[in-house]
Amino acid sequence: MKQYNFDDIIERKGSDCFKWDALPSMYGRDDLLPMWVADMDFRSPDFVMDAIRHRCEHEVLGYTMPSEGYWQAVESWLERRYGINTTNGELHFIPGIVAGIAYALLCFTNPGDKVLVTTPVYPPFLNLPKESGRMLVCSQLKIENGRFAIDFDDFEQKVDGCKMFIMSNPHNPAGTVWGADVLRHIADICKRHNVIVISDEIHADLTLSPHKHVSYSTVSDDARSNSITFMAPSKTFNIAGLGSSVCYIADEALRKRFFGWLDALGVAGGNIFAFTAAEAAFANGEEWLRQMLDYLKENVLALQAFLNDRLPKVKAVLPEASYLAWLDFSDYGIPHKELADKLINEARVALNDGTTFGGSDYECCFRINLGCPKSMLLDALNRIAGVFQTTK
Ligand SMILES: Cc1ncc(COP(=O)(O)O)c(C=O)c1O
Repeated sequence: MKQYNFDDIIERKGSDCFKWDALPSMYGRDDLLPMWVADMDFRSPDFVMDAIRHRCEHEVLGYTMPSEGYWQAVESWLERRYGINTTNGELHFIPGIVAGIAYALLCFTNPGDKVLVTTPVYPPFLNLPKESGRMLVCSQLKIENGRFAIDFDDFEQKVDGCKMFIMSNPHNPAGTVWGADVLRHIADICKRHNVIVISDEIHADLTLSPHKHVSYSTVSDDARSNSITFMAPSKTFNIAGLGSSVCYIADEALRKRFFGWLDALGVAGGNIFAFTAAEAAFANGEEWLRQMLDYLKENVLALQAFLNDRLPKVKAVLPEASYLAWLDFSDYGIPHKELADKLINEARVALNDGTTFGGSDYECCFRINLGCPKSMLLDALNRIAGVFQTTK
């Protein structure tokens, strides 16, 4: 069995890589260890790179289309892993999930309509409704036993009058895996209130054992009938720069309306490398993914051990899926601006600022990305401890 190496440090600076090369514009300096943007510092898998190289041997890069092999690889992946049967045209290619959510917002809601999210959440979920003139409604998650949980009393109150609920399943930040009961409860409430549920499942494949991802539409008839699900190989195989995702809709009426809109937008043609890479990844990726998830799990444990040992005042929500953890520095009693300044200008690490996930309630929180060689993670944690261990 081939052993993949996730310890190698790969120089990404200078490759027009957002995580490393946007540091000066985003943080004002370029000497930071970037633990922010949600991609991984691991090599993209060899079988994906080989497929892209092979395709490049043909020297015409004209308009393309998804091949039968591409659809088979996607369908088989969804069936095997999540029990979703999609052999009757329930899938549509989309370039990216943020774009997909934007298309859904434009298709199913009007300016002024209310759109629900649960905070803290991936920032585009906040920005898309706001910037498109919808009314953003936020239901705050609670922290129970060190994990995020939905406050269903608040959720049910807030969902009233909304047209759409945008859900991160698993949840970003901190990879909370929503169980079938929670999803069924959401489906029940949203169906009663006539709310379309967007289930963004981009992190699903990265669910860490013993947790198990449950795809929203599979939990009940209500969920099947009111949902639009997005999935992608982009986080799973570290190929986010290729713009390759899929949309799944079980309900025929919803599907006809949305897929018609996507075709009108002209996004179905995709791009050559998006299809080539996704097919290679889904067809050959099980073993690479298994080894990579083992590695990620070690990184989560390393973070947990480090915090217990060296930074016990930092409270964490650790990922059950994917590689993003939520760190709360509020026990230091330091104002937001000063906290951010310490992390950037003293510790020299770039974390995501909690306020971007839902405003001033998260001023003491930061998201850290663990999708990197362990030595890099420990370097970042040592830098943080170097500043905060001595901070009372
Ligand atoms: C929940 C979630 N949705 C969507 C995205 C981005 O998806 P895409 O690059 O396909 O637009 C991310 C990236 O971090 C994410 O965490």
